Amino acid sequence: MESISAKRLPYSKIRVMFDAAKKLEKQGRDIIHLEIGRPDFNTPQHIVEAAIEALKAGKHHYSANAGIIELREAVAEKYSSEYKLNFSPESEIVITNGVAEGVFLVINALLDPGDQVLIPNPRWVNYEPDAYTNFVEPISYTLFEEKNFQPDPEELEEKITPRTKMLILASPSNPTGGVTGKKILEQIAALAVKHNLIVVSDEIYEKIIYPPAEHICAASLEGLQERTIVLNGFSKFYSMTGWRLGYAVGPQKLIDPLLRYHQYMITSTNTFAQWGAVTALKGDQNPSLIMRDKFQKRRDYIHAAVNEIPGFSSTLPAGAFYLFPSIKETGQKGIQVAEMLLEKAGVATVAGEYFGSKGAGHIRISYANSMENLKTAVKKIKIVMKKSA
Ligand SMILES: Cc1ncc(COP(=O)(O)O)c(C=O)c1O
Repeated sequence: MESISAKRLPYSKIRVMFDAAKKLEKQGRDIIHLEIGRPDFNTPQHIVEAAIEALKAGKHHYSANAGIIELREAVAEKYSSEYKLNFSPESEIVITNGVAEGVFLVINALLDPGDQVLIPNPRWVNYEPDAYTNFVEPISYTLFEEKNFQPDPEELEEKITPRTKMLILASPSNPTGGVTGKKILEQIAALAVKHNLIVVSDEIYEKIIYPPAEHICAASLEGLQERTIVLNGFSKFYSMTGWRLGYAVGPQKLIDPLLRYHQYMITSTNTFAQWGAVTALKGDQNPSLIMRDKFQKRRDYIHAAVNEIPGFSSTLPAGAFYLFPSIKETGQKGIQVAEMLLEKAGVATVAGEYFGSKGAGHIRISYANSMENLKTAVKKIKIVMKKSA
């Protein structure tokens, strides 16, 4: 009964892990959830109030397909003030149902079946299945652990064929927390120009980045603005995962096909949520900055603590809220370690394999959880790992 493309779509393994943890909780076990990729804070109150006000003011109706103009203007202002990049609110910005929709749109509206898209490995779980929805072939390039999970432009170029049409970049990265530096990005930008590639830059963790690392917007690299779609959103920095709001910015020739696809798929995103998002961008940034500082303290703690666990070793992630330690020295696979930690320590993580072949021998630990829970989790993991050594 299902289509050929649906047959190729698996359920997300992160969800499988989450469900297994929930099952144990139902049996009365205490589980610490370090598998989920969402901030453990609620949306800042002033953003919530803005959405409530919008509802009270009768903002109950469809918006323009591309989103309310006030939100598109706020997005345009952000890019012009932060990166000196100009995007027209009328024709170069679409408000999407999260970055998740943005990724689906670029694959389906800009590529044809048989085209190839370059995706990082390890990577966020959507890129590969999204490619399958349009019979596009995903080709992996490596994020090298020994280079703090950055790509190597030489290896990336080796993967380019006459069928390669698009390159997906993602920095800071899920699952590694790695941030790609300016020099490497410039080399990759030159490759994109040389090989005439569309660049899609998933910048959802743009503002969850820890000094001295700095975010570089891909569209600001030489030669890229005219060929780049930047995907960004509200889920992480503003802790608005359930609001389902993101945006795509880029030149009109690339945005227009996205908008036509979006129009038939989504119509428009939730109108009163969009009003909340206007306040997110234009209002007080402090609650989000405080959240980011907390993530940084937790990162420092979890990085040091995990490196003391026998068999674990981790680079220092410069962004997002994930640690991606190697567990190779335990002699076990990521899946085995993640299952053992769930069953014996009551700590849910995700096996690195689920993020692509280069994730093998790792687990992903999300530190979007309280310091207290992180400390308890580390203690429990240590006990289990010592016993299994
Ligand atoms: C790299 C990356 N891109 C996109 C998303 C999805 O974001 P959204 O909630 O805006 O759909 C996530 C969520 O975990 C992510 O890690």
